[in-house]
Amino acid sequence: MNTVIIGAQWGDEGKGKIVDLLSAGSDMIVRFQGGANAGHTIKVGNEQTILHLVPSGILHPGVKCVIANGVVLDPEVFLAEIEALAKKGIDISPERLAISKKAHLILPYHKSLDKAREAKRAGNKIGTTGRGIGPCYEDKAARIGIRAGDLGNADLVRSKIDHALLEKNILLKELYKFECLDPDKIAAELLEIAPRILPYIKDTEAIVHDAINADKNILFEGAQGIHLDIDHGTYPFVTSSNTVAGGATCGSGIAPGNIDEVVGVVKAYTTRVGSGPFPTELLDDAGSYLGAKGHEFGATTGRPRRCGWLDMVVVRESVRLNGLTQIALTKLDVLESLPQLKICVAYELDGKTLEYMPQVEGDLARVKPIYDTVPGFDEDISNCANYNELPEAAKNYIQKIEQISGVPVSLVSVGPGRDQTLARE
Ligand code: GDP
Ligand code: IMO
Ligand code: MG
Repeated sequence: MNTVIIGAQWGDEGKGKIVDLLSAGSDMIVRFQGGANAGHTIKVGNEQTILHLVPSGILHPGVKCVIANGVVLDPEVFLAEIEALAKKGIDISPERLAISKKAHLILPYHKSLDKAREAKRAGNKIGTTGRGIGPCYEDKAARIGIRAGDLGNADLVRSKIDHALLEKNILLKELYKFECLDPDKIAAELLEIAPRILPYIKDTEAIVHDAINADKNILFEGAQGIHLDIDHGTYPFVTSSNTVAGGATCGSGIAPGNIDEVVGVVKAYTTRVGSGPFPTELLDDAGSYLGAKGHEFGATTGRPRRCGWLDMVVVRESVRLNGLTQIALTKLDVLESLPQLKICVAYELDGKTLEYMPQVEGDLARVKPIYDTVPGFDEDISNCANYNELPEAAKNYIQKIEQISGVPVSLVSVGPGRDQTLARE
């Protein structure tokens, strides 16, 4: 069984928690896009682990983890992450963790350019994570990127860095008034750490195919959210990869027909980090309440996340873009004590009612959300042991999500812990 798990909103829906949970019955977890812009949080007992690159199945002994070709890998972040995991006693040996030879590497000039561009944008920032994601995917498309598989060839690495910096140093110095970078220094630093990374670099497409042929259970872990997709998201306020479920095919080398299930992780309200249109954003007390109760601070950058009501137009778009077969609803507990809950069911734009998001840049910033208002619940639901213990108002909220999306809610998460998850029959 091959299952793709994606975030159905603007990221931080709780993908890490859901992937960790479903890893219990899985053999392999494959990250297929994005890079260290992701921050996936897993809470086991009192211990919290935040993963940026390593798949969220790593805490389950025996589960194999693959960083596939669609990921852009920052070698330094990778090494820091596996060292931190090793200190916690987690097995991070190359026998269970592999990096695709085709994954592109993020180098210091990608991070410099990312920061320089954001600094130059002044009032028009995207609010990137500064992790070099966009510039690295640009190099991939420009066919001048360095791939993990290149690391064994010092001459190739040196010549590629020289070539990349020819252009980039002119941009950094002349346009952005940033410091030039020294190609020799970058190459030396990369080649120094290369021996620690090389054992992990493998033909991961073959590893994944062998697992598929052996009928293993594989989870394909998405990063970011559908509305940050480079094609289908709220362009230009997006990330630089395809976050949609289809990204799992080109991002890991599997065929479309290999995908059996697509789980959309949906937060019970909406959040967004960085700039860009957000129709249901709450700039009032209710928004502050969600931010405080939901601890809505970025797991990668620590920035406060913008908060708003659940936007089912956003989720509906994700249903069709991904062919969602199930929804995992997270953070329902955070809605506790709000007397009324609003669900955005459609938008109004220029006197017309829209059931789907407008596709022209700028239009989403002009829509007015149309809300259904439903009763809230006062009870603390974070200790509920099964679905039937949920208050009626919480169950009604879930049913409403199912009605509007046409997709069953198979999991309901009521807290960050593994045991705070209610499975639906
Ligand atoms: P991801 O990027 O989609 O993996 O999500 P993040 O880890 O960035 O953000 C989700 C945050 O919500 C993390 O701090 C999780 O521990 C936490 N979380 C996940 N599910 C729940 C839940 O059902 N209730 C509460 N209160 N917190 C949750
Ligand atoms: P996870 O996997 C939320 C946002 C950034 C910015 C935009 C572009 O934890 O859900 P980038 O650095 O990718 O060029 O930034 O995308 N962004 C995320 N927002 N969760 C994420 O990842 C994100 N990764 C990128 O805030 O608005
Ligand atoms: Mg996150």
